[in-house]
Amino acid sequence: MTYPNFTKDHKSLMAKYLTKEVFENLKGLKTKNGFTIEQAIKSGIDNPDSGIGVYAGDEESYTLFAPLFDPIIEEYHGFSKEDRHKSNLNPSELNASNPDPSNRYIISTRIRVGRNLADFPLGTSISKEQRYEVEKIVSTTLESLDGNLEGRYYPLLGMNEEDRLSLVQDHFLFKAGDRFLESAGLNRDWPSGRGIYHNNEKTFLVWINEEDELRVISMQKGGNIKEVFERLVSAIKELEKRMKFAYSEHLGYITSCPTNLGTAMRASVHISLPKLCKNMELFKSITNKHHLQIRGIHGEHSSSEEGIYDISNKRRLGITEVECVQDMHNGITELIKVEENL
Ligand code: ADP
Ligand code: ARG
Repeated sequence: MTYPNFTKDHKSLMAKYLTKEVFENLKGLKTKNGFTIEQAIKSGIDNPDSGIGVYAGDEESYTLFAPLFDPIIEEYHGFSKEDRHKSNLNPSELNASNPDPSNRYIISTRIRVGRNLADFPLGTSISKEQRYEVEKIVSTTLESLDGNLEGRYYPLLGMNEEDRLSLVQDHFLFKAGDRFLESAGLNRDWPSGRGIYHNNEKTFLVWINEEDELRVISMQKGGNIKEVFERLVSAIKELEKRMKFAYSEHLGYITSCPTNLGTAMRASVHISLPKLCKNMELFKSITNKHHLQIRGIHGEHSSSEEGIYDISNKRRLGITEVECVQDMHNGITELIKVEENL
């Protein structure tokens, strides 16, 4: 492989940090699962509009290809290679009263974490058989949960198209055909091995074998952030009793995209801010101050509709789960205050 032909449109952190020298050092190297730098950077080359542009094949990718991953991780999370990740899943340490008790702005709250099984490669380099094995292990484990986490697994394979589309439309299920995941090899053998588990109320859901092997999700209508966090923590604790997840002292939970390392947590609200969205400069100054990211109503790479945004914590590594949710809570509280004064 030769050094990629980056154009002025390639704006990712990968394009920024993959210098000729770094490339020369990394080309030809393979992790024990056979993952190469060529595979790692393919999505960012195929998709010039990538913000990050790189994926890992396994935990080893983060050390073997550290000259590329380290500066990307440092710039995205503000986390240096000497730092150690920390965790805090204690809901009593979260200071988060409902920022919108009269239900005027917040439509729904969702908190998710990514997880991958310790004994398997990540989805970028997993085989079809291993993916099936992951599906079997995770879905069987989930179906052993009880109480408010009790539910059923619905594989994508054989799901009727109407049901699938309505789950996507209602924000419960991942979409199909994401071009960033496609180039990263994460859509291979679609739809086999993929699916969704959820309880009856659809307040606890788990995606299986999308970008990560598990995406554990707690969500509900309204702005009761604490209740959403508590449900998620109880689910994580139950799952950790039953499965071993890929984890490193340095990087926390190992995920296929470096933006998700650490807590692997994205805590978001869908929120309507009809006045503030007319002043994007002010809007962004508040989200930046609280380390928040603005997404559209159908998730990443979608746009806003009717002034409704998905606002979430941006940092996930080097801060605890409680801090991720606290960032989101504090920022949302300020956004609502400013909206009310406009
Ligand atoms: P992820 O959060 O898993 O990284 P996406 O940005 O693609 O990925 O979001 C996945 C789905 O979750 C999308 O349908 C999105 O609209 C939905 N979603 C995100 N936040 C919320 C929220 N607070 N309330 C309802 N749905 C949400
Ligand atoms: N690879 C895409 C990009 O670089 C997405 C990065 C972050 N999002 C994610 N779902 N991992 O823009």
